[in-house]
Amino acid sequence: MKANIIGSSAAITDVLNLVSRVAGNDVTVLITGESGTGKEMVAETIVQQSPRRVKPFLKINCAAIPSELLESQMFGHERGAFTGAVSRQEGCFERADGGSLFLDEIGDMASMTQTKLLRVLQEQEFERIGGNETIRVDVRLIAATNKTLLEEIKRGKFREDLYYRLNVVEIHIPPLRERMEDVNELVEHFVAEFRQKYNKPDLAVSKQGMQTLLNYGWPGNVRELRNVIERAVVLSRTAQIESEDFPEKIRQPSLLPGDSNEEDHIFTLQEMERMYVRKVLEYAGGNKLKAARLLNIDPKTLRTKLG
Ligand SMILES: Nc1ncnc2c1ncn2[C@@H]1O[C@H](COP(=O)(O)OP(=O)(O)O)[C@@H](O)[C@H]1O
Ligand SMILES: [Mg+2]
Repeated sequence: MKANIIGSSAAITDVLNLVSRVAGNDVTVLITGESGTGKEMVAETIVQQSPRRVKPFLKINCAAIPSELLESQMFGHERGAFTGAVSRQEGCFERADGGSLFLDEIGDMASMTQTKLLRVLQEQEFERIGGNETIRVDVRLIAATNKTLLEEIKRGKFREDLYYRLNVVEIHIPPLRERMEDVNELVEHFVAEFRQKYNKPDLAVSKQGMQTLLNYGWPGNVRELRNVIERAVVLSRTAQIESEDFPEKIRQPSLLPGDSNEEDHIFTLQEMERMYVRKVLEYAGGNKLKAARLLNIDPKTLRTKLG
């Protein structure tokens, strides 16, 4: 699938500019940003815009695999290199020869593995595990991490020399909450995607629904937004997606307006009280008597406060 990075905030425009400037060179790129900000998508876009697009493109998630297995996946192994190595296996570096390799969550790589990776980057050569034949490859490396590698270096978890090798160009993708002006476009994009997938051609997000999405902080970034839209498209029973189609968490915006200075984002005490009463009622499993007791009010008052 063709990656299509959506957004026109200054941050995304900068990212896209950098992508097109680095794509044509074989320079190693380090993509940083919180989980769900689109790091993998940026890596895919770099490859698509590079002459290597017609060559193999492989991906490894360094956090998902134990370190021995990771080394074997990267460098391959010879038959009998370890228990279970019943035949020779080529690693990703070999299979990606002439193309590109994406190392995701590189901040989680064990330090022994980091040392081996550094050698490949410096000398473009390595041996398969259990082998002594030196293999030379031509691979363009793109790495990503949600960690702050400079801090990992201070903590002794990441090799400084490897960091400078990887970080020839860094592309940082800011969290969605710092570029809320992208939310509108992203919502349109995902609604269009899922409208088609779930065959609901006329579906759109209502004004009030969009306001709810704009009031939320998106700790899970674009991934979370996409999931919320997919869920809402599936659940929606009318032609419009309303706030009610979003999970409870999304509908309870942060208490203070944060960066925006719009006074209409500030709740009145009555609104706050109603939200709190609903929360307690939820905690009480919907039992109004129990909720009233917890709130130290009588059940009749509870009913009026729920509004
Ligand atoms: N700018 C964007 N435009 C469109 N989709 C995006 C964008 N950023 C992220 N996504 C989508 O969000 C999800 C998470 O993106 P991904 O690249 O896997 O993030 P990360 O690798 O940073 O965790 C994917 O489904 C991706 O397609
Ligand atoms: Mg990722």
